Amino acid sequence: MSGALPFYVTTPIYYVNDVPHLGTAYTTIAADALRRYALLQGRPTRMLTGTDEHGLKIERKAEEEGLTPQAFADRVSQGFRDAWPELRVEADDFIRTTEPRHVEFVQDLWRRIEANGFLYQGAYDAWYCVGCESFKTEKELLPGNLCPLHQKPVERLQEDTYFFKLSAFQDQLLALYEKRPDFLRPESRANEVKSFVSSGLQDLSVSRTSFKWGIPVPGNDKHVMYVWFDALSNYLSALGGFDSPELGKFWPPRGEAVHLVGKDILRFHTVFWPAFLLAAGYGEEHLPSTVFAHGFLTVDGQKMSKSLRNAVDPRKLAKTLGADTLRYHLLRAIAFGQDGDFSHEALLERYNADLGKNLGNLLQRTLGLCAKFFASTVPALAVDTDLETQLARDIALERDKARVAWTRLELHVALEATFAISSLLNQYIDRAAPWSTAKTDLPRTGHILHTILRELAQLSVWLWPAIPDKADAMRTQLGLSPLVPREGTDLFAGVDGFDALTAGNALSPGSPLFPTYDRERTEALLTELKPPTETAATTPEEAPPTVRRDAVVEPPAAAELAPIAYEDFAKVDLRAGVVTAAERVPKKDKLLKLAVDVGEPTPRQIVAGLALTFAPDELVGRRVIVVANLAPRDFGKGLVSHGMLLASGPSEALHLGTVPEGVAPGSKLK
Ligand code: MSP
Repeated sequence: MSGALPFYVTTPIYYVNDVPHLGTAYTTIAADALRRYALLQGRPTRMLTGTDEHGLKIERKAEEEGLTPQAFADRVSQGFRDAWPELRVEADDFIRTTEPRHVEFVQDLWRRIEANGFLYQGAYDAWYCVGCESFKTEKELLPGNLCPLHQKPVERLQEDTYFFKLSAFQDQLLALYEKRPDFLRPESRANEVKSFVSSGLQDLSVSRTSFKWGIPVPGNDKHVMYVWFDALSNYLSALGGFDSPELGKFWPPRGEAVHLVGKDILRFHTVFWPAFLLAAGYGEEHLPSTVFAHGFLTVDGQKMSKSLRNAVDPRKLAKTLGADTLRYHLLRAIAFGQDGDFSHEALLERYNADLGKNLGNLLQRTLGLCAKFFASTVPALAVDTDLETQLARDIALERDKARVAWTRLELHVALEATFAISSLLNQYIDRAAPWSTAKTDLPRTGHILHTILRELAQLSVWLWPAIPDKADAMRTQLGLSPLVPREGTDLFAGVDGFDALTAGNALSPGSPLFPTYDRERTEALLTELKPPTETAATTPEEAPPTVRRDAVVEPPAAAELAPIAYEDFAKVDLRAGVVTAAERVPKKDKLLKLAVDVGEPTPRQIVAGLALTFAPDELVGRRVIVVANLAPRDFGKGLVSHGMLLASGPSEALHLGTVPEGVAPGSKLK
């Protein structure tokens, strides 16, 4: 992002078979933060979100609820529309795929693609997962014909259809990924898309005849369109169609268009969507600027799912703790682009540490000193010493880091750098000690406090994309007006005259912006907020598998786990092992029973939650890291696990911790 290039950011449009949850809130908050950052830069900015309402999944869900699909979609879509403002998300538009403006556009797109010769009629006979609304190849399925994502049996579909000539775009897409590395991000996900495309693209079935809940195919109303053809088009239909001025302004090449998506739907956005656009006659310069895939969130190390009953309600969190607390935690705690874990405990700890102790205390202390020595007015500047010169240099470095990170969509890095500024100011106030200079040199005290007030005013701007309410509340206490971005003015860079603190102006110290939660309050909040713990612990098949699930996720920031003594670490018997046999456990989808050689006379039996990622055969011969002295765990019916393997990643995409060849089974890791 740079200059005054118009900026268009989108979220996926959410299926109306679910309510807003932490996963969908995460993308939507991230998009809103990027929207706000672009506004700060003075760019014309537009954010789109909405709902995806057609398709077999929704038709069936509506039927279950005894409603027409339209009535059902109306109700759920409204729930999404109401939820986002509660998280301080201010999208400029909310698109529904059942709106006439969308339907007309999609039919227009279809006609263009058809006129260009990229659609033909035929019939298919293939596996389909209704959960994904996607065909699956045999290779992708788990034993028992299960969809690897939904763990449910796929359906065999045989129908007449229109095919889209996706195969015609294979070379062009591969060339595109090479030419435009920013098109597909983060880089770590590019390979999976590239290898999918280079392994050969099949033509794609883009219409259905066996149900009616979809957009009719122009000129052949026996067919409705494939829901992904319909859904992906929302990004353009919401701009008003091909010839609209909004499209001319915000869509490339005149604007920058960024699609934020979850990693599960990256393929649709980086293979199908550009191919549809190219087929409609759009040149490469008209493709989206960036498709950015974020990772998946787990809750307390567990996959989020209704059946686990650990779905966390973002609206409730925002209501109880304030939207900004949730926004800040999600954006800061999870490396944008990677999988991450959410826990209420970590949320409250981070609130206390970063917002309460770091930023909140700084503001309180500074305003307190201004009240004490300067009657709550902005003191006058005097002369900089080396301390101020060094501070200004250090802050400029962090600010530049934050700016680059926002531009590169590294939201967590941007916030880390921004909070580093608050830490720098805390160090500065301790070193400069304005309370003690006050005894001998009041102008020096004024200079120190003015310096901090000025940087706090800047911080309120830099924090606004993530925590808009608190940033404005901070400004109020500093005697400044709420932040109003101005097109053409880069407020992030700092503008002469903007936020200038005038000596003598009144400050408005108020109650603490971020009162910290003590132990008792934390306990009370946890009881109020945490969903009742599920039955997992009591039913063996749902018990946390014996793979280190808390390592699934990004390593928690140092502050999240209390330090332990070396002696405590030394109690863990970590050993190199080799898997010598592996088999599924009947009726337990997630578990594999392994025999692992850990240098003992016979291999150990270890039961591990690896089945969603690995077929048993893939594991035999793998070098693993075993926690060898974990108390045995009984999974029922005589199935006992004698150890645990280290792994990271969500349960359907685990990476095993390993040791290099040459490390003998049984070798200790220390
Ligand atoms: N309707 C499609 C998107 C069409 S876009 C043209 C869809 N909808 S969805 O409601 O199922 O999912 C929306 C988004 O939520 C996806 O990006 C998905 O990755 C994201 N998430 C769902 N669960 C999630 C987590 N547990 N964590 C993070 N994001 C998750 O797919």
